[in-house]
Amino acid sequence: MHVLSIVVIQGEKLSTTIVLGAQWGDEGKGKVTDFFASKADLVVRFQGGNNAGHTIVIGDEKFALSMVPSGVMYESCTPVIGSGCVIDFEVLKNEIETLNNKNIDTTKLKLSYNAHIIMPYHKILDELIEESLGDKKIGTTKKGIGPCYGDKIQRKGIRIQDFLSEDKFNERLKNNLEEKNQIIEKIYGGTPIKFDEVVNEYKKYKELISSIAEDTSLFISNSVKENKEILFEGAQGTLLDIDHGTYPFVTSSNTSAGNAATGSGIGPLNFEHVVGVTKAYISRVGTGPFITEQENEIGDYMIEKGAEFGTVTGRRRRCGWLDLVSLRYSKRINSLSQLFITKLDVLSGLEEIKVCVGYKFEDKKITDYPLIDEILDECEPVYESFGGWDEDISKIRKYDALPENAKKYIEFIEEFIDVPIKYISVGPERNQNIIR
Ligand code: GDP
Ligand code: IMO
Ligand code: MG
Repeated sequence: MHVLSIVVIQGEKLSTTIVLGAQWGDEGKGKVTDFFASKADLVVRFQGGNNAGHTIVIGDEKFALSMVPSGVMYESCTPVIGSGCVIDFEVLKNEIETLNNKNIDTTKLKLSYNAHIIMPYHKILDELIEESLGDKKIGTTKKGIGPCYGDKIQRKGIRIQDFLSEDKFNERLKNNLEEKNQIIEKIYGGTPIKFDEVVNEYKKYKELISSIAEDTSLFISNSVKENKEILFEGAQGTLLDIDHGTYPFVTSSNTSAGNAATGSGIGPLNFEHVVGVTKAYISRVGTGPFITEQENEIGDYMIEKGAEFGTVTGRRRRCGWLDLVSLRYSKRINSLSQLFITKLDVLSGLEEIKVCVGYKFEDKKITDYPLIDEILDECEPVYESFGGWDEDISKIRKYDALPENAKKYIEFIEEFIDVPIKYISVGPERNQNIIR
């Protein structure tokens, strides 16, 4: 049995739509993808791994998906994990079992032959490297993401197709362990990993992986030709992009729109819409610059009211005012064609709402996101101030019914970014949305 859709969306076709985070992740992509997925034939994850935590709330049920694309909730939808992703077998298997226990069918799931496997040494190295960095640590999710993508780029990685060929898997594992064990032991003083133990452990994933492995690039490409409705579900957010984010405090993949093409194996001319998901404020988990951070009662209010605790690690998220300089940067990097604003309800009850419209650097006002770290570090936020509202807006479904100050806030953002805000989310539930 499947969870039925109770979402009514505008008549517009999805065609090929990318949904991605326009901030530092946790913008509500899971909810947004689920919202669109009711009319999708395919939902494709194109990057990241189980560092992602995408929450979907359906009635009293809460699902936290880290690897399986959000479209799995709909019987009509085929969830696809593209080659740009990195896979922890144990996590994937557990997630599938958890979904099955809740009567969600996962038999349509497809996994790219070219996705890379997060191996036990990746997870150990992620921990050891973070520890060794002391107060300079990135604050990773310790899921082995960085070391796994590192091996991919160094051409030492083990792909799904390598795993399916026993000889190749054993050979690549042996070569990797010779190197990784030296690093684990001699550089970080850790415990080496035994070849036989890994081989034995991984045997138990053979059946599952061989049943879902596929040439997903071909499958997605054929689906595009057949005019299927396809959603591409981003993980993390633009400011965590390995090229365009706040390096080195970023994740290890391209989280921006360009990777929807590369990470799923179809060309860039295939995409119709790019939906940027942004909270009505902003949050970040982990270390790194954060110009509008509110380490005060405002930040605490956002954390408590917005339940801003990490889905993956349970960490308290850092919160602050919406930063339109970085949001406009995100528009540039991703060609955002629509904005989906989430968590507007969280701002209810605040007397004053601020939004960052520029950065002050050496008496100058900067409106383009500065790429030079030393400049970014010195920037101070320039705010525009708005009156708040007291009403509970979580039951509102029509834009006109929103408090005047909420509408002023939304319209200011829209004008500043110059991207239509087509959707506003006012609660975690599937149907708590305003469509404009
Ligand atoms: P993702 O990683 O981008 O999918 O976001 P997360 O699931 O990690 O974090 C978003 C959190 O906000 C989740 O707990 C959602 O259930 C919740 N959420 C999403 N949209 C809204 C909203 O409009 N209002 C409120 N109050 N919560 C929301
Ligand atoms: P979703 O998809 C928020 C952050 C980590 C850390 C940095 C690097 O739920 O939005 P990594 O483990 O990827 O090497 O950590 O990136 N990070 C996220 N922050 N949401 C996420 O995913 C994140 N995935 C990674 O906190 O700062
Ligand atoms: Mg998340």
